[in-house]
Amino acid sequence: MKLIVLHGPNLGRLGQREPGVYGSGTLAQINERLQELGAELDVELECRQSDVEGELVGWIGQAAAEGFSGILINPAAYTHTSVALRDALSGAGIPAVEVHLSNTHAREAFRHNSLTVPVCVGQVLGFGAESYAIGLRGLLSHLRSTQQV
Ligand code: DQA
Repeated sequence: MKLIVLHGPNLGRLGQREPGVYGSGTLAQINERLQELGAELDVELECRQSDVEGELVGWIGQAAAEGFSGILINPAAYTHTSVALRDALSGAGIPAVEVHLSNTHAREAFRHNSLTVPVCVGQVLGFGAESYAIGLRGLLSHLRSTQQV
């Protein structure tokens, strides 16, 4: 089974970007840890990052046709603004789990709402890089319990 991991805008600069909020780890380290966990859980992962909304929309729309069974996504700032990303997730035909490094509810009011989570299976936030690992386990458990894999 193959899952796609999508990282939204500015996440390519993790490590340098506001380390007090997002930690000092890089995106490469997050992906490496996920690949290790994927191997343990017997699932193949493909990780992609884009700062471009339309590119993320395209990847989500193509994911099922590319043979992915589910989507693990940190939509980053687009979480709070993007109807396009929400519509893409809603129409993807495969389940998605949303993750965030920070606890967005403990931050500015404009981060409290997610346009994307209502069309996801669930959301994990506030655990730093570990949010991705927990999210991956959640997505897999959902797929396996609904026998979509
Ligand atoms: C984030 C939270 C968003 O509000 C923010 O725009 C990000 C990162 C997180 O992982 O904590 O870029 O998605």
